[in-house]
Amino acid sequence: MTSIGIHDLSVATAHYVVDLTELAEAAGVPPQKYLTGLGQEAMSFPAPDEDIVTMGAAAALPILERHGTERIRTVLFATESGIDQSKAAGVFVHKLLGLPSGVRVVELKQACYSGTAALQLAAGIVARDPREQVLLIASDIARYQLDTPGEPTQGAAAAAMLVSADPALLELEPTTGIHTADVNDFWRPNDSTTAMVDGGLSLRAYLASLMGAWDDFHARGGAGFHTIERFVYHQPFTKMAQKAHARLSQHTSHAVSINALKGSLDYNRVLGNSYTASLYVGLAAMLDNSDDLAGRRVGLFSYGSGSVGEFFTGIVQPDYARHRRREATLAALEARHPLDIEGYRALHSAHTESSQDRETPHVTSAPFRFSGIQGQARQYEAN
Ligand code: HMG
Repeated sequence: MTSIGIHDLSVATAHYVVDLTELAEAAGVPPQKYLTGLGQEAMSFPAPDEDIVTMGAAAALPILERHGTERIRTVLFATESGIDQSKAAGVFVHKLLGLPSGVRVVELKQACYSGTAALQLAAGIVARDPREQVLLIASDIARYQLDTPGEPTQGAAAAAMLVSADPALLELEPTTGIHTADVNDFWRPNDSTTAMVDGGLSLRAYLASLMGAWDDFHARGGAGFHTIERFVYHQPFTKMAQKAHARLSQHTSHAVSINALKGSLDYNRVLGNSYTASLYVGLAAMLDNSDDLAGRRVGLFSYGSGSVGEFFTGIVQPDYARHRRREATLAALEARHPLDIEGYRALHSAHTESSQDRETPHVTSAPFRFSGIQGQARQYEAN
């Protein structure tokens, strides 16, 4: 059988970074609540000329520079911060990246989960014709209202992946466990720029979904818990991954291994929730921060409120260390500009999803920018 999986993985984030100790102090909250209680130090925040398209294209660009475009026949764009009700964000990316016309492009939505649906669809496309590769982009900006409990769990990032036969990073194993249940834990109505959330319910729904997905995985003959050496979880905040792993260990009657999450929290802790990208940013962090993963089995849990969860596994490939992008990701995190609380609140309040014509100020130093709206249509350009 052809081996299929993630051949390349690249992460991009936003222009600004907000320090959560400063946010806590401004809110009159003990900083340890955010640092230890949520496991978050900082959050990425976009400039007015950035959005899911500019971050997604920035994440994908290095993949095309390394592998070319010849074998790419599909672009799947996963997001829950969609910028249009009809046109797929990936079509803008297709143009920015100069992809050929013989490429199908589509957008997928189901809260933070749709990147994983895209990965499974991509694996199917590659299985049908192993000459083809799929460019998968998961890109999101997590926005909650100011002065709400969700505020310190905002963030922004994109993860781009090349899914192919004979992957260099992670071979996907075919068994997956799925759990879908209609829950009103988190949603974003069409007339709101920020998410609605029932925080307590969302935590319970996440954990219930994990147990349901695991049980389905187990029932379908998935790998035993003891054979999975590392775990990567969807990370709305990094403490959630620790809670999830503790609960799954208990559910399967295993002790919690301290190494299980090693490295996987490092990027999310400083860039915040990136919804669809979060799990794959976690995977990049795990691969980047361990040199001894070759041949090891990794378990991944993807959760999207509302809700859909999926547990699946992959085997880290022998030469993965040569193909990862540690330096580039660290450089992107380092390049962010600190934004003080006054500036952050002003930008947050000024954010609009209005389609009125306007020009955006030139702020970002990313490779692509959102230049504004003309004739009610969004405009993008190389920077
Ligand atoms: P909250 O009510 O502000 O916080 O909301 P809390 O009172 O529950 O405290 C949080 C933690 O800090 C607790 O830890 C406290 O004990 C601790 P725990 O007991 O749970 O381990 N704490 C302290 N620790 C040290 N020093 C202190 C201190 N004070 C308190 N002084 C909540 C927290 C996560 C609910 C809120 O931030 C929220 O609503 N966030 C958004 C929703 C969310 O992230 N849900 C996660 C699961 S759903 C999901 O993952 C899907 C999602 O990504 C969206 C999608 O799918 O599209 C969100």
